[in-house]
Amino acid sequence: MKNLLSVIENAEKSHYMEKDDIVRLIKESKYDDELFKAADRVREKYVGNEVHLRGLIEFSNICKRNCMYCGLRRSNKNIERYRIPPDKIIELARKAVGYGYRTIVMQSGEDDYYTVDILKYIISNIKKMDVAITLSIGEKTFEEYKALKKAGADRYLIRIETTDPELYRAMDPGMSHENRKKCIRDLGKLGYEVGTGCLIGLPNQSMESLADDILFFKEIDADMVGVGPFIPNADTPLKDADGGKFEIARKIVAIMRLLMPDINIPATTAMETLNKDGRTLTLRSGANVVMPNVTEGIYRKLYALYPGKICTGDTPAHCVNCITGKIVMIGREVASTKGFRMKM
Ligand code: 5AD
Ligand code: SF4
Ligand code: FES
Repeated sequence: MKNLLSVIENAEKSHYMEKDDIVRLIKESKYDDELFKAADRVREKYVGNEVHLRGLIEFSNICKRNCMYCGLRRSNKNIERYRIPPDKIIELARKAVGYGYRTIVMQSGEDDYYTVDILKYIISNIKKMDVAITLSIGEKTFEEYKALKKAGADRYLIRIETTDPELYRAMDPGMSHENRKKCIRDLGKLGYEVGTGCLIGLPNQSMESLADDILFFKEIDADMVGVGPFIPNADTPLKDADGGKFEIARKIVAIMRLLMPDINIPATTAMETLNKDGRTLTLRSGANVVMPNVTEGIYRKLYALYPGKICTGDTPAHCVNCITGKIVMIGREVASTKGFRMKM
């Protein structure tokens, strides 16, 4: 069997790893430090020291889906639901641009209230502010994605959640794994920058399955990959599940950076929920993006995917200063560009 240190060294140069070796690296913690350092070097070499900030607007917590892990699932009667009106979304985007954000991410549950026409109105108005727009609003048809792209959307986030079809069926009842993959393909065909990702630590998810996820992201040539630990939510059927581990998620980020040197990888909010330095540790293990929340007021608390979400009591102005400080403290800088992927 190959020595894991040589697996890391080799991947740093070739950006390739066998599935078996990925599994072993996830399971073994002896070489974590070397893995994180190698990922940090690859990050610096390919995407540099700049950290891209994306201003995240969580504009509706209404969702027609029923994902087992998620607090926004339609069967959850314990949360107060909200929709931010279109003009208010545009205003939040304008404020975010004022704070220096060069990308606006519009995220919501799968809420059909926001028709393509309404979304086009919002997107075209935000687009006038000279920013990149990322959508994270779930599964739509090819024609819908096409219309949104034409209106000005640049990128789209849609996690595969897991590449294991059986686990997907158990976690996302009533949804089609095939259709989810089709959505990802459609977005690519339409010229979006495509972001995907998975949850780490779902019930019955094996390390082999996580290795498959990583190889899937590479195979489809994803432009962005965001991963985070699954955090059990008391208002869901998975309330008594174990949940994901921070260190495993961090290693997965590092392996992703070794294998996909030029993509954008966020240090996700869920990472900081499990570890108070979660985002900076992740930024030092391969990540180069952070997506601070720019939603205001009561909405922040109500977008409750999982418990313990950070920043729910803070303002957008506070968060931009907070995260900028953290980035500078680790010797990095906040980017001033829109932060598209530079394919190498
Ligand atoms: N823990 C962590 N992440 C979650 N998400 C949904 N529910 C949870 C949870 N309980 C993630 C999903 C979704 C993203 C917007 O939030 O992966 O794609
Ligand atoms: Fe809806 Fe997304 Fe939550 Fe699933 S993960 S219930 S699609 S908001
Ligand atoms: Fe929101 Fe630190 S980024 S409080």
